[in-house]
Amino acid sequence: MSQPLIQLRNVTKTYSRGGETLTVLDDLALDMDAGGYFALMGPSGSGKTTLLNLIGGLDRADTGSIRIGEDDLAQMGTGELAEWRSRSVGFVFQGFNLIPVLTARENVELPLLLAPLKGSERKKRAEYALQLVGLADRMNHRPSQLSGGQEQRVAIARAIVTDPTLILADEPTGDLDRASAEQVLELLGKLNGELKKTILMVTHDPHAAECAKTIVHMDKGGLGRIETREPRKPSAAGVAGR
Ligand SMILES: Nc1ncnc2c1ncn2[C@@H]1O[C@H](COP(=O)(O)OP(=O)(O)OP(=O)(O)O)[C@@H](O)[C@H]1O
Ligand SMILES: [Mg+2]
Repeated sequence: MSQPLIQLRNVTKTYSRGGETLTVLDDLALDMDAGGYFALMGPSGSGKTTLLNLIGGLDRADTGSIRIGEDDLAQMGTGELAEWRSRSVGFVFQGFNLIPVLTARENVELPLLLAPLKGSERKKRAEYALQLVGLADRMNHRPSQLSGGQEQRVAIARAIVTDPTLILADEPTGDLDRASAEQVLELLGKLNGELKKTILMVTHDPHAAECAKTIVHMDKGGLGRIETREPRKPSAAGVAGR
């Protein structure tokens, strides 16, 4: 592999709070290869979400460079960054962030509204993404009519519907019971293994982190140990209540 997909150099991020400056990321450097599956672990407040948001272009570093493939995020204007984000990154959050009044299919179609597509094509792609996550039979359900695990799988369908290179997931199993968490992990493993998506998942759960190929530990603004390992195969077999 010639060049990593994600390349961070000298990345610093500070926040001001009540006249004080809090350095969240301090001169951080990190490389992540395309096709990788990374778990980011660390204590609360260590800057995991901050780092994920910088890599996903939701926020900007104070200094340093963040390159994703050929793109240098610091060099992009606000509109360009938003356009890059909608094309290149799929986000999955702990709380699912689905729109309650929309059906599963309509939720999944949302990121496609920015693309120049016909309604029928949007619908087709959303249905395909929902099939991939095993929810073809729940397309017309609203979030309140779905279990938490199903809601998260709809959110994953929404994250992949634009066919992004990179999936960023912030504690995607944090609100799920063990069985639903395993289903979500199984799905993320499939996106990485079969669809070749590069995945970066923040998690507090060692059991979830074990499913990644690489575990990156963070502590107080810096990176600690990086473990590369044989991932655990999540097993949702025999899980009741889809
Ligand atoms: N917008 C903001 N303004 C000020 N401080 C912030 C802001 N966002 C985050 N912080 C602070 O930066 C630090 C890192 O926050 P971050 O959310 O990245 O931590 P985290 O590792 O994701 O924690 P958790 O595991 O609890 O989600 C925290 O001390 C937090 O209070
Ligand atoms: Mg966080």
